[in-house]
Amino acid sequence: MRYLVFCRMNPNVTLDPDAWQESWDRQQEGYLPDREHRIATMLDAVEATAATERPRLLDLAGGTGTITLRALARFPRAEVTMLDLDPVLLAIAAASLTGRAGIVTADLNSPDWTTVLPHRGYDAVLTATALHWLPADRLATLYAEIHDLLRPGGIFINADYMPDDGLSELTKRLSTQASSRRNARHAAGAALSWRQWWDLVANDPGLAPLAAQRATTYPTGHAAEWNAPRRTAGGRIHRSRDPLARRNRRRSGSRTLNRDRARIAAH
Ligand SMILES: C[S@@+](CC[C@H](N)C(=O)[O-])C[C@H]1O[C@@H](n2cnc3c(N)ncnc32)[C@H](O)[C@@H]1O
Repeated sequence: MRYLVFCRMNPNVTLDPDAWQESWDRQQEGYLPDREHRIATMLDAVEATAATERPRLLDLAGGTGTITLRALARFPRAEVTMLDLDPVLLAIAAASLTGRAGIVTADLNSPDWTTVLPHRGYDAVLTATALHWLPADRLATLYAEIHDLLRPGGIFINADYMPDDGLSELTKRLSTQASSRRNARHAAGAALSWRQWWDLVANDPGLAPLAAQRATTYPTGHAAEWNAPRRTAGGRIHRSRDPLARRNRRRSGSRTLNRDRARIAAH
């Protein structure tokens, strides 16, 4: 397990969390123009399935806490845990959330990341534009780990670009089209690119020490272009956690997962 030790921010410099939230949102919307709509749809699904007005939610790889903040606005009594590994994004999240959600630092690449969570039995595990950072074989196992964190009837929602295996040529063309539009917007200054946003962080007196720490957390960056194939998800996450169904699955063994792993590894 990798735990992160926070660098203290310069106490003479104040972080304006609202300004950083806004600039993160604008930067992310450059990559996912319907991001707000996707998050709202996730929360619709929580509302439709949660058994209580106080849903227990896990925002996985939550970054600056975007999903957590929207979840708390929609369900003020929700019990939310947000998990990430990035010291900069976690600092912005902590400054925005001011104790209204649990914040956990953990590495999803580590098999024991669930041990640092304060709860089990989540009504929903939500994540957006993050799991494509993980290697394909790790992702298949992670889906199973997430499954075990859900209460019976709980849901997992991953909002991300996922190429449709049956439409590979169309997916490729749409992706090329989206990249070229995005590059034009970045070039014209309509939105900040990922790199430009991180350059601002590195030049911010309050965040710069955390940015330096981040360079050791993610020494090689991430594979931005890899996306989880849709069928990876289809095999594991849309199952209910009905105990009988679970027992039957155990009987059929881990072959499904292993098959999924093999298929994913082939990508
Ligand atoms: C593009 S950001 C998305 C953040 C947030 N979900 C959002 O929509 O704004 C991807 C996030 O995944 C996190 N992440 C990537 N790999 C991770 C890992 N191994 N463990 C924990 N978090 C990870 C990054 O730190 C980053 O916050």
